[in-house]
Amino acid sequence: MIRIDKEKCRACGVCGRICPRYIPETIEHGDIRETVLSTERIGLCMECGHCEALCPSGAIHVDSFSGRFFEPVKKPDITEGQLLALLKQRRSIRRYKDEPVPRNVLNRIIEAAHSAPTGTGSQSTGVLVIDNPGTLKSLSAHFYSLYRRLEKALANPVARFIIQKKKGKKILNILRNFVMPGMHWYIKWHDAGRSDEILRDCPVLILFYSPDSEPMGEDNCTVAAYHAILMAEVLGVGTCFNHLIPPACNEDPEVKQILNLPQDCDVYVGLTAGYPKYSFKRIVPRRLAEVRYL
Ligand SMILES: Cc1cc2nc3c(=O)[nH]c(=O)nc-3n(C[C@H](O)[C@H](O)[C@H](O)COP(=O)(O)O)c2cc1C
Ligand code: SF4
Ligand code: SF4
Repeated sequence: MIRIDKEKCRACGVCGRICPRYIPETIEHGDIRETVLSTERIGLCMECGHCEALCPSGAIHVDSFSGRFFEPVKKPDITEGQLLALLKQRRSIRRYKDEPVPRNVLNRIIEAAHSAPTGTGSQSTGVLVIDNPGTLKSLSAHFYSLYRRLEKALANPVARFIIQKKKGKKILNILRNFVMPGMHWYIKWHDAGRSDEILRDCPVLILFYSPDSEPMGEDNCTVAAYHAILMAEVLGVGTCFNHLIPPACNEDPEVKQILNLPQDCDVYVGLTAGYPKYSFKRIVPRRLAEVRYL
């Protein structure tokens, strides 16, 4: 619900102009101007909070933000050069020190994820931070067991046919050509006690999940994860996206039980995190495939 405090409202109309759905409307009857809420479109309010953040008189309130403080805006104390340096120097970190990341540092990383944009402002993304070594070990064991079963199944033409029927040809091809060639070695190394290349022996695993009914759930998780990644980088914590983890979280009933996510939620992003074991000395040159102005 949106409320306008008639005592404070000066009918300047700015809330209506910022609103993506033009819900506040400023109307004139003779000499009188007033801002009211469109009864036709009030149901389209996505509770983005922009009207409340912009109102010069503090007259409009979005109920879903009740009890949450709108901090005053101030220019971020960061230059273009500093931001670009951060973006360029961030690396995917896959080798971690055997050292826990303190909860106060993790909380700062998650604070950055809170401010990520979400499709239609849904704010339906959830985060699960797993920093308990026992839980990580148990998850790792389940992940290997799942991928071992998958490797076996993919070697069997009947099982391959069933996977294709259930998941589609694209997923089958991704599994066969992209996931499993590396996984074959990961399983070998894991079984030989050499390393855990699924969880990368990380001290922290951060999962981003969303209701499976959320149309932009996957994008929301990815954007929130990237906010977290950049904050982690500033705090000296390395992170890496891991595409092996979300399917294992969503497919394995025992993993689901450990994670205990809200009902009908799927994990879309898994980030391994920890203090980097090695410090890069040079920036890897990267580029987009193409940039065009039209
Ligand atoms: C959508 C996405 C998924 C990724 N999945 C994985 C992954 O499963 N495992 C991994 O080691 N790296 C993963 N990465 C990291 C990429 O391999 C990495 O970003 C790329 O090699 C460039 O390296 P940089 O991040 O250090 O610039 C992923 C990156 C993105 C953007
Ligand atoms: S919260 Fe957003 S969508 Fe709702 S009335 Fe305000 S500006 Fe419009
Ligand atoms: S921005 Fe504030 S003062 Fe201006 S019309 Fe909207 S509620 Fe009234």
